[in-house]
Amino acid sequence: MEEKRKIIMDVDTGSDDAIALVMAMLDEQFDLLGICSVNGNIEVKLTTDNSLRVVECCDKQDAVKVYKGCDYPMVSTLMPWTPQSTGIRSEGSANTPMPNPRREGTRAGDKEVHPEHLPLPEPKIREAKDSAVVWLINTLLEAEDGEITLIPVGPLTNIAVAMRADPRIIPKIKEIVIMGGGHLVNNSSPASEFNVWVDPEAMEVLLHSGCKITMVPLDATHAAYITVEESKRIREIGTKPAILVADLIEQRTIGYAQNDAEMKALKGAPIHDALAVCAVLHPEVLKNVLHCNCHVDISRGYAYGQTIVDRRERVHPEPLNCYFALDADRELFYNWMIDVLEKDKERRK
Ligand code: BDR
Ligand code: CA
Repeated sequence: MEEKRKIIMDVDTGSDDAIALVMAMLDEQFDLLGICSVNGNIEVKLTTDNSLRVVECCDKQDAVKVYKGCDYPMVSTLMPWTPQSTGIRSEGSANTPMPNPRREGTRAGDKEVHPEHLPLPEPKIREAKDSAVVWLINTLLEAEDGEITLIPVGPLTNIAVAMRADPRIIPKIKEIVIMGGGHLVNNSSPASEFNVWVDPEAMEVLLHSGCKITMVPLDATHAAYITVEESKRIREIGTKPAILVADLIEQRTIGYAQNDAEMKALKGAPIHDALAVCAVLHPEVLKNVLHCNCHVDISRGYAYGQTIVDRRERVHPEPLNCYFALDADRELFYNWMIDVLEKDKERRK
């Protein structure tokens, strides 16, 4: 039998994070070592609570622990007058990445896309004793070189802090597959994607860590949208996790319809974070993948948080530090979800 892929999820759960967690827990090709929560879509105490709910929904409470992570980005909220420090996204949204007393109004659709509490019972289990950063460092230090794959699908704070605290963890990492960034598609500002926008400096630390990095940006995740019509087949599987996934796809579709004309017309929504999970086992789900140099703009101007992809074909002055996907195979992604959820149902019989 093929060896399972050892992974760590880093999440800001979040509706699409929840679907990503379901898939990471139920795909038998994974050995999920733990879940780290981080501040992002909502405060870290809520992303932790939501992650615990998803663990129980999948009946994995005896197998998987949740470690509570950082509650603030590394730098962005310390700078006066950045949108991050005032809690306002430049497009006027207040789906704030940090508990911020100056939180203002709410953009239509935000609450549907990432409600404070997932539609699941309050968890009976609690987070683990260690903080996410401490656990990450200890777990990676004990591993063989190149043994563990990280799948961060929220702001990159936990991993960047761990790398800065103990760089000896870096060679232990096989690969980092990140949901984050955008080339032609962005969502938090005209130039930046949410996970990078919340903590741009953290993303820059990862990009220059020397690890193998695959970026699953908005360009790819928007190409891999799932429709409400398609979610019906998922619902029919009838297990708790499958019903959760279908509910969340419907909820996200309602939220996206309020702000995104393209998704409204398609009657669907991107399930960003789950695509990164799929890409670990099925890299071919990512299409038009550039091997390139990428920096994050950390200069705090209009492009703060932009992932700047160098597409020049002549000799690059800087090293190629990531794989950056511009497209995705929607059908492969959908079939993988169905397959994993159906196999889980079989196991439950
Ligand atoms: C990313 O931001 C979050 O809102 C989602 O969970 C996803 O990880 C998309 O920009
Ligand atoms: Ca997320």
